[in-house]
Amino acid sequence: MIQASAPGKIILFGEHAVVYGRPAIAAPVSTVQATATVTQAALGGGLLLELPDIGERVPVSGASTQTPLAMVAMLALQALGCEPTPDWTLTVRSTIPVASGLGSGAAAATAIVRALAAAAGTTLSPAQVSALVYESEKLFHGTPSGVDNTVIAYGLPVWFVRGDPPQPFIIAQPFTVVIGDTGIPSPTSITVGDVRRAWQAESARFEGLFDAVGEVVHAARRSIESGDVTPLGALMDQNHSLLQEMGVSSPELDRLCRVARQAGALGAKLSGGGRGGNMIALAQPDAAEQVVAALLRAGAARAFSTLIGS
Ligand code: MEV
Repeated sequence: MIQASAPGKIILFGEHAVVYGRPAIAAPVSTVQATATVTQAALGGGLLLELPDIGERVPVSGASTQTPLAMVAMLALQALGCEPTPDWTLTVRSTIPVASGLGSGAAAATAIVRALAAAAGTTLSPAQVSALVYESEKLFHGTPSGVDNTVIAYGLPVWFVRGDPPQPFIIAQPFTVVIGDTGIPSPTSITVGDVRRAWQAESARFEGLFDAVGEVVHAARRSIESGDVTPLGALMDQNHSLLQEMGVSSPELDRLCRVARQAGALGAKLSGGGRGGNMIALAQPDAAEQVVAALLRAGAARAFSTLIGS
């Protein structure tokens, strides 16, 4: 039996604008994980993908674009030179809520690619894993920037610009982020598509919003690299307002951001595609638990804190 896993992720700054060439900062979140297990199966069966969390079993040969995880498994087998298709069962389990902005699809695909590589007796570089996972992201999202597969495949906080390799990026002082889940599933493909239509209809306004997000992301990088992270709170608030103007927030996300600020967070924003899914808040380490408790009292489906850059 061979097993590999991959973390979830949060976008700290820059979602949506990153699809249009502006930078984003993202970090892995290892509190939640996707795990892929390869076991030997009966002769002649080929590769079978099992997704017990959603009760699905998909033969990988003949996978269609409707099944991105089976597609990425097929592409990985091709890249690994596994021909004919081995008789394996590939089981994927995940603790990452689906359609919540935490990168569940990219994490499952990353775990699949790593597990198949290990079963084939090799390892792939983070860049190779990321490129394969990007193919499934295109099926999940339509026009992904590539930030999710990059941060998850590299397993490090990244400064990401679409089309460029991820840049090394120094976190001078680790900082605490609280993650709160609205519990409302919201597929990224929908909000990304809505932003695209709005940008087509009002391109000057949206280019202005994306530029303003870009400035926030540059300021956030300066703050993180200097070790003085206090300004990140106000920058999160600004980024959230710009996402509201893009039309990707929701009353539930706005409410959880407000609750986090009232409970002592230095700032808060939605994270990922928006409309539902998760929000994040910057908290002093000794205030994180009270922010978590306030979010849960306010109806968050779950909330937990994570240290970025440790
Ligand atoms: C999703 O995690 C981030 C978005 O910016 C989409 C993308 O970058 O592909 C909303």
